[in-house]
Amino acid sequence: MEKYKDILDKAYEAMDNAYAPYSNFHVGACVKTKNGKYFIGANIENASYGLTNCAERNAIFQTYSQGYRQDDIEALAIVGQGNTLITPCGACRQVLVELLKRDTPIVLGTGEKVLVTNIEELMPMAFTNEAL
Ligand code: THU
Repeated sequence: MEKYKDILDKAYEAMDNAYAPYSNFHVGACVKTKNGKYFIGANIENASYGLTNCAERNAIFQTYSQGYRQDDIEALAIVGQGNTLITPCGACRQVLVELLKRDTPIVLGTGEKVLVTNIEELMPMAFTNEAL
């Protein structure tokens, strides 16, 4: 999808930085801000498997760490290897529902496949700070 070529390309580049000696499954992600900055992330695993941080969480945390917030974010891309589109795990959805706007495009890409969705679609009826 031409519109998202830039963030998809950068997400694929980020995939090369994955540290995934346990799963050997590399994932890349890229956030684009409305002022044209890119923040990439890759999955970083650990011998204590549960401490693994997914690519999209790393990318969104990088973005927030540089002072950007949800209104500043244009889109997030997540890409993986193989033939099956990568969709964010449950933990990442909970993080993204708080840190992205409900309708911010989330662009999923693998091989030739591209699917554009958003966190509202990926996580209906989420628990959020609105309930607190
Ligand atoms: N992974 C991600 O980085 N993002 C996803 O959306 C799905 C899963 C990573 C976690 C782990 O390092 C590897 O993929 C296999 O689960």
